[in-house]
Amino acid sequence: MSNQSDNPKNSAGSIIAGTMIFAIGYAILRYHLLGSVPWKDFPFFILNKGICLGAFILLTFNFGLGPLNNIGVKVSEGWLNARKSLGMTGFLLVLIHALMSFMIFKPAVYAKFFEADGTLTLLAGLSMLGGILAFVVLWGYNLSFQTHLREDKAFIQFITSRKFLLVAMTLGAVHLVFMGYKSWLNPSSWSGNGGLPPISLVAVTFFVIGYIINLFGRK
Ligand code: HEM
Repeated sequence: MSNQSDNPKNSAGSIIAGTMIFAIGYAILRYHLLGSVPWKDFPFFILNKGICLGAFILLTFNFGLGPLNNIGVKVSEGWLNARKSLGMTGFLLVLIHALMSFMIFKPAVYAKFFEADGTLTLLAGLSMLGGILAFVVLWGYNLSFQTHLREDKAFIQFITSRKFLLVAMTLGAVHLVFMGYKSWLNPSSWSGNGGLPPISLVAVTFFVIGYIINLFGRK
């Protein structure tokens, strides 16, 4: 209490822990417990899904908590102060996701992304383009935390502007829409996973809520 200004309240640790438990737990529940993916695939294939879902949620918190507070929902100081750590952690998790995905990106693992001749389908191409562009935009956003760039006011203003954040979020959603919309529109295909919606749909639901809050609440 006595030293509050030197040590402001920051809930990043518990938000990150809670988000990752939810995200990895959801992946385990959907694919191992309710689905039929063997446990040997947990350390890479399934963990990758949990990691990218967690990343998406943390990035949505990063973009959405300020505007949520602006539209009158009281967001605690600990959550507001956590935003920078949530954004950076989300970005690092996306980096892990990209590295893991690159390693196992082959027809034997992701049959739905490939044609019979081994080339990418149109939807997979658009989805991966969205993912890579989202990654690069997020990278640019994280550069804004570098102190030597902070002197370049015009660059920082652009990179932290509402438009730039919405571009990053939108590209992430493009990645998910092209990857998943066919199965989103066909809930009967979820029955092999206990009826639980795909991770791409869970992630995009967070995004849509964050996007709407941004439209109304970003100053
Ligand atoms: C270099 C960039 C990227 C590559 C190569 C990549 C690759 C992939 C691949 C291969 C999948 C399918 C995973 C699976 O179903 O097991 C996937 C899914 C996903 N990615 Fe990415 N991604 C990239 C960037 C991103 C970014 C920037 C985000 C978040 C902002 C993201 C979030 C997700 C999410 C939430 C899923 C859904 C997983 C699922 O439905 O199971 N990805 N990505």
